[in-house]
Amino acid sequence: MFVNEKLVPAEKILNEALSKKIAIGAFNFTNMEAIQAIVTAANKMQTPVILQASSSAITYMGFGYLKAMISAAVDESKVPLALHLDHGKDFEICKQAIDNGFSSVMIDASSLDYEDNIKVTKEVVNYAKNFGVSVEAELGTLAGVEDEVSVSEGKAFYTDPSQALDFVEKTGISSLAVAIGTSHGPNKGRLGNPKLSIETLKEIKKKVGEFPLVLHGASSVYADLVEICNQYGADLKNAFGITDSDIKEAIKNGIAKVNVDTDIRIAFLGTVRKYLAENKSNIDMRKYLGAGREAAVEVVKRRIKTFL
Ligand code: G3H
Ligand code: 13P
Ligand code: ZN
Repeated sequence: MFVNEKLVPAEKILNEALSKKIAIGAFNFTNMEAIQAIVTAANKMQTPVILQASSSAITYMGFGYLKAMISAAVDESKVPLALHLDHGKDFEICKQAIDNGFSSVMIDASSLDYEDNIKVTKEVVNYAKNFGVSVEAELGTLAGVEDEVSVSEGKAFYTDPSQALDFVEKTGISSLAVAIGTSHGPNKGRLGNPKLSIETLKEIKKKVGEFPLVLHGASSVYADLVEICNQYGADLKNAFGITDSDIKEAIKNGIAKVNVDTDIRIAFLGTVRKYLAENKSNIDMRKYLGAGREAAVEVVKRRIKTFL
């Protein structure tokens, strides 16, 4: 049973998005303010979203608080929501998420060799299907900043298009995360915004057809929001993300789920820093967390606009 009966499996939302040639934002949350911001933005944009938590985020909140907050969010929401485990590293954490009412999980066994990745992923799919839970898995490894030194080095990390269909068929997953040149965090390119390998994506799509593909590490790392952080005491160097035009091109070529965490962190951080700097006598946490929450609403709306 899902945390709230109105939660939907991610694959339902993603397959609909694919047919409309749009993508769904999958936004990471670690607290109540982030959940409220994501749902408020989704309601304003009248589009479904995926709320996702990593295992460290689950440890931070605890399953109990997480479930209660998500259930409240689903009751408030006017749009369909899915609750997704982000980057589950093994069968056990995926099972825990499913047993706690998540409607979707990611098993990320992409660091294992191909056959082992298939084996673990299949195990999760077999368990998840008893509960109607969607499963995302990953093929290829997301580049780290240092991996962007040259294209040929970078390519070693890309998803191998020749494995994509075999992997999808053997595992029975409902969406596939691909590595095409993105990386997690605010430092995606050394000297500027990194370019995605749309060619690799096109090759993958040729193999898998109409199947939801997922882009991790897809934050835009907006310069204006980084600037606010730095203006108020942060030291974010070489902060670059994926351009909106690359995101749009990726969506045209089969990306149906776009993962965003860093953009919310940066929007929240800059606003809280600014609020605290400008209101030195304030001791009320609702004031600065509330300001952070408003900034998060705006950045989530900004991202969703790019995906439609
Ligand atoms: O993909 C990684 C996400 O940004 C989650 O990060 O493990 O720090 O919660 P986290
Ligand atoms: P960003 O760090 O680019 O926001 O990516 C988040 C992500 O991929 C979560 O799985
Ligand atoms: Zn990710």
